Amino acid sequence: MTVKIFGIIGDPIQHSLSPEMFGSYFRKKKLPYLYLRFHLRKGELGRFVKKCRGWGLAGFNVTIPHKETILPFLSQVDPTARRLGAVNTVLIKGDRLIGYNTDAAGYLESLTDETGFRPRGKTALILGAGGASRAILYALCQNGIKRIFLSNRTRSRATVLMHQFKKIFPRIEIEVISLTAQQLSRVFSKIDLLINATAVGLKGTRLTQLPPLKRLPRRAIVSDIVYRPLETTLLKEAKRCRLQTHGGIGMLLHQAALAYRIWTGKNPDLRLMKKGLLDALKES
Ligand code: ATR
Repeated sequence: MTVKIFGIIGDPIQHSLSPEMFGSYFRKKKLPYLYLRFHLRKGELGRFVKKCRGWGLAGFNVTIPHKETILPFLSQVDPTARRLGAVNTVLIKGDRLIGYNTDAAGYLESLTDETGFRPRGKTALILGAGGASRAILYALCQNGIKRIFLSNRTRSRATVLMHQFKKIFPRIEIEVISLTAQQLSRVFSKIDLLINATAVGLKGTRLTQLPPLKRLPRRAIVSDIVYRPLETTLLKEAKRCRLQTHGGIGMLLHQAALAYRIWTGKNPDLRLMKKGLLDALKES
């Protein structure tokens, strides 16, 4: 039995749930795998990439601040990661390091799994224009969404994102709107999906600019990438309005499941993996 080593690189890395999630999964499945945490500062990436091949590492996850800067160090980058300009999963194959991004597909898989939502022909409103928003935007565009409203506190970031995506997906209507109650209200009646891809929601906060969710159509699904708390103020309000909801833990779980598939060629037992993730979250 060959022991395989996986891990995650980032800074800060102490709060990452991945080591506990994968660790508990490997133990419960009695797999001869290890998952380690590598605290790696900005300037240390080159040295790590050079050395890691000799350590018996089979693959690793990548988080802040290395998701973009790792690209030039890789032998090959999968088309999704290339288009997103960000890698969250690396497979080590002999001497070669191959980069992937499982955030985009992970988000959509979890959304479809939990709510049945399929993007084709639909309209979405995405709040936020950071890395998470970019991955979600990509997943929706790649899967035939019809129209997207993009809104961000720093409007210029949303505009940059819109122009980049219009080049790749010229047929999809992407419109930037200001993050104000008035502008958001204007589009509420048109959307099938509302996504909070900002950091707001942590510790019980809520985007003050967001109009009451009761103004959304009954068909609308409310999705939040924040998973601390598991049920954010936004999701609680959506439930009170009897809207379907989708929490941030799903994206975390499914991006990890896709990484596992890349590393091992096998599908993990999602229920068991989710249990490890929820336990890790409780203990954190
Ligand atoms: P990530 O990679 O997780 O998306 P990020 O790139 O730092 O992280 O993006 C965080 C997102 O949350 C951004 O859209 C940010 O808005 P700005 O671009 O204006 O910074 C948004 N965000 C963070 N705090 C916010 C707040 N208090 N109100 C509104 N948006 C906020």
